[in-house]
Amino acid sequence: MDDAVFEYVQRHANPSHEPVSEQLAATTRERFGDLAGMNIGPDQGHFLEMLVAITGARLVVEVGTFTGMSALWMARALPDDGKLVCFDITDEYLPTAREAWEAAGVADRIEVVIGPAAELIDEVEFERPIDLAFVDADKPGYQAYLDLLLPLLSERGVIVVDNVLWSGAVVGDEAQDASTVALRAFNDGVAARDDVVAVMLPIGDGVTMIRHR
Ligand SMILES: C[S@@+](CC[C@H](N)C(=O)[O-])C[C@H]1O[C@@H](n2cnc3c(N)ncnc32)[C@H](O)[C@@H]1O
Repeated sequence: MDDAVFEYVQRHANPSHEPVSEQLAATTRERFGDLAGMNIGPDQGHFLEMLVAITGARLVVEVGTFTGMSALWMARALPDDGKLVCFDITDEYLPTAREAWEAAGVADRIEVVIGPAAELIDEVEFERPIDLAFVDADKPGYQAYLDLLLPLLSERGVIVVDNVLWSGAVVGDEAQDASTVALRAFNDGVAARDDVVAVMLPIGDGVTMIRHR
């Protein structure tokens, strides 16, 4: 999508102005420079918030939290007794995330687990089946996260996987870096499975939604 169309899309979100997420985007840029590009954009934020709201999700799991942008959008849509469990390999960005979560009044709904998610997802005793999982961490780990999360999903639960288009690099075979190769294999593997239903959507950098068939 070109910039003008993207800007038009942004202006027609309702509400179009999200002070806490805008502040978090600015703070992330200030503190972490170019890494701020890892935050999901507001288009995807609105999408995740809408998904949590319409599914009535009460337990959401996130793999890859960084400064907490996607967590912020999802946590805001949870009911009062809802919970978001976030996995990240480092706590370096957590103070920034927590500031935003506190400002939005959702910090008490969010629990953070620090360490390699592939080793920790199975160790956490979730209180209930997972209604929605958002995967946005290291790309070579995606297959492991899918394998670990699928059996933990509620009956109508869904896994949303981010960056599946990787700025288009997954198309063709020119790019051969580890992330692109892993994403290609992941996308091909999901498309070939007969135990899940999956749809790839061109939102943000591409998301795939996956549920049990
Ligand atoms: C793209 S960023 C997440 C962005 C976040 N969802 C947002 O919207 O702000 C990826 C995150 O995954 C984390 N990560 C990388 N490898 C990981 C692993 N093996 N286990 C858990 N987290 C990991 C990184 O530390 C980083 O914070």
